[in-house]
Amino acid sequence: SSTHDKNDSYYTDPAIAQLVADMVETMADAGGVGLAAPQVHASLRVIVFFVPPQRAADPEAAEGTSGGPVKLTCLINPQIDPLDPAIDEDWEACLSLPGLTGKVPRWRRIRYRALSLAGDEIDREAEGFHARVVQHEIDHLDGMLYFRRIRDLATFGFVEEVQRAKSH
Ligand code: NI
Repeated sequence: SSTHDKNDSYYTDPAIAQLVADMVETMADAGGVGLAAPQVHASLRVIVFFVPPQRAADPEAAEGTSGGPVKLTCLINPQIDPLDPAIDEDWEACLSLPGLTGKVPRWRRIRYRALSLAGDEIDREAEGFHARVVQHEIDHLDGMLYFRRIRDLATFGFVEEVQRAKSH
């Protein structure tokens, strides 16, 4: 095979593949939709996530499209850019902050680029929840937890307390 054979890639390193498998297991055990390598104490720019149909902006849209559902995806060294200035606020939670929730501003539409676990280039546009989960997980790579982005701290707290406050 040539020296450019993607199977020679760093990214097919068995240690990276094992890390991603561990991340997926941790995410599934916690019932989450995303996880970043620092959450399992690995200092690598690797995230995993998926968008279930019920969270997709357009559940009828094709798999992997901007507003459609997204199957389990691994992004290595992801880069992100907003596609326009629009910001949405919505509720988030995080496996690193058990029991807590908060309303977080995020870019509504983004483009992200990364390498897949197999070393292929990923270049996608995303909106809504898809864009939100990618932004949340990439934040973890920079040591940023969602509560630091919350504008109104009245929207941050334990799930039961926030739900009680919302109902008043
Ligand atoms: Ni998180």
